[in-house]
Amino acid sequence: MTQRSRTGAAAPLAAVLTALALLAAACTGATGGVRGTPGAAGLRDRYFPKQGNGGYDVRHYALTLAYDPGTGRLDGTAVLTAVATQDLSAFNLDLSGLVVGGASVDGTPAAYHRAGNELTLRPREEVRKGTEFRATVTYGGVPEPVTDADGSREGWLRTGDGAIAVGEPTGSMTWFPGNHHPSDKAAYDIALTVPAGVEALSNGVRTARRTEADGRVTTTWHAPEPMASYLATVAIGRYETGTATALGSVPVLTAAAPAVAVDSAALRAEIPAILDRQARRFGPYPFSAAGAVVLGNGTLGYALETQTRPVFPVASFGRTTLVHELAHQWFGNSVTPAGWRDLWLNEGFATYAEWLYEEEYEKVPARASFERAFAERDNWAFPPAAPPTAENLFDPPVYQRGAMVLHKLRVTVGDGTFDRILRGWAEEHRYANASTADFTAYAEKTAGRDLGALWEVWLYGDGRPERP
Ligand code: ARG
Ligand code: ZN
Repeated sequence: MTQRSRTGAAAPLAAVLTALALLAAACTGATGGVRGTPGAAGLRDRYFPKQGNGGYDVRHYALTLAYDPGTGRLDGTAVLTAVATQDLSAFNLDLSGLVVGGASVDGTPAAYHRAGNELTLRPREEVRKGTEFRATVTYGGVPEPVTDADGSREGWLRTGDGAIAVGEPTGSMTWFPGNHHPSDKAAYDIALTVPAGVEALSNGVRTARRTEADGRVTTTWHAPEPMASYLATVAIGRYETGTATALGSVPVLTAAAPAVAVDSAALRAEIPAILDRQARRFGPYPFSAAGAVVLGNGTLGYALETQTRPVFPVASFGRTTLVHELAHQWFGNSVTPAGWRDLWLNEGFATYAEWLYEEEYEKVPARASFERAFAERDNWAFPPAAPPTAENLFDPPVYQRGAMVLHKLRVTVGDGTFDRILRGWAEEHRYANASTADFTAYAEKTAGRDLGALWEVWLYGDGRPERP
C-alpha cells in the first residue's frame, strides 16, 4: 500500500515536471532561440484595455466567409498578413464567441488557446522582429452580438433575411479574429458566399461574383486603403442596388432593403453631389469606392460610417446624417483616432461638417448651430476629449461640444486659416492615426500662433464657459 501510494504520488509529480519543462521550452522558443516573448494581450486603451494586441502590425486581412441566413451560421477563414514588431513566441487575436477549428502560421499548424475574447496563437517557430508572417484561423458558429456600455447592439446582427455587421467600438471581434483596436489599420479583401438570390455587400469595390458548384454565390470585395477594423462591414440579405460615379472616377454603389428602396432612392442619388462638395472643402476623397446601405427598421439603432459604404437604419437616413457619415470618410476613416479617447476627432468633425453643409447649402449659419449647441445642458457634461467611461463615448459632448471647439477655432483664426487647418489635417494624417495633441499642435502650426487659451476653455475646461 505504501509502495503503491508512493508510486501513485511520484507519477503525477513527474508528469507535472515534464509539463513544466515543456511549457518553459514553449515559452522561450523550442528552437533554442530563447529571445521571443508573447505579444501583449491588449493595447491598454483606457476604455477597452484588452482591445487590440501587441507585438505585430497587421497589413492585410483576407476574410473568406460563408453565411446561411436560415440558420444564422457563419463559417470563416481569416488570413492575416502581419509584421512582427518584436521577437514573438506567441501572439493574440481578439475573437468573441464562435468555435476555432484550426490555426497556422506561415502554413505550419500553430497551437492555439482561448480565454475570454483573447485567442492566443503559438507558432512552432518564433517569429523574428521585422518579419512578415501569415496567420490563418478557421472558425465558425452562430455569431453573438455584443451589447455596448451605452446599451446599443453591435457586431454581427441577424436581420429578417440576412445579417448586418457593424463594429464600433467593439463588435468586429464577433465575426472575425483580428487586432481590433483602431490603431492597427490594414487593407482588406472580403469574400462572401451566400445562397443564390441574396445580396452580399461589404467595403470597397466589388471585384467578382461567381456561382459555386453547389449553387451558392460568392461575391468578392477589395478595400485597398488602410481601414480600422471597427469600420469593416458586411450586409447580407435582399437589397436593391444602385450605381453612380462620383468625383469623376469613384464608383458609388448603394443598396437598400426592398421596403425602403423607393423612398431612399432620391437621397442615395445625392451622394455624388455631397461628396463633390465635401471634397472641395476637405480635400481629395480618400477612398476608391463610395456608397451607402439603407436598412429597414428594427435592426440597427444608429447609422455608422463603415468605410466607403456607411450603413443607415432608414429612420436615420436623412440628409444631415448622410452628410455626417460621408464626412467621416475623411475624419475618422482616413484620419483615425489614436485611441477611443480621441473619438471627438471623428464625431466633433463630422458634426461640424453638418454645420458647414447647412451653412453653405441650407442657409443656416454655423453660428446658429453653435448657439443651439451652446444652450443645451447635455453638451457640457464633460470635456470632449475626456469621456468619463466607455458608456459615455458617444454622448453629446463628444459630438456637439467637439463641434463647438471647431467653431471657436474658426472664429479665432478666421475662415481662410480654418479651411487650411481642416484640409491640411486630412492630408497630413491621411490613412494614419492621430491624437488630440496632434490636432492642437497642427492647428497652432497652421495658424502660426499659440492657441492654449482656446483649448483650455473649450477643449479641456469643465462645464460651460461664460456666454461667448
Ligand atoms: N459613429 C457613429 C456615428 O456616426 C455612431 C456609433 C454609435 N455606436 C454606439 N455603439 N453607440 O455617429
Ligand atoms: Zn459620427
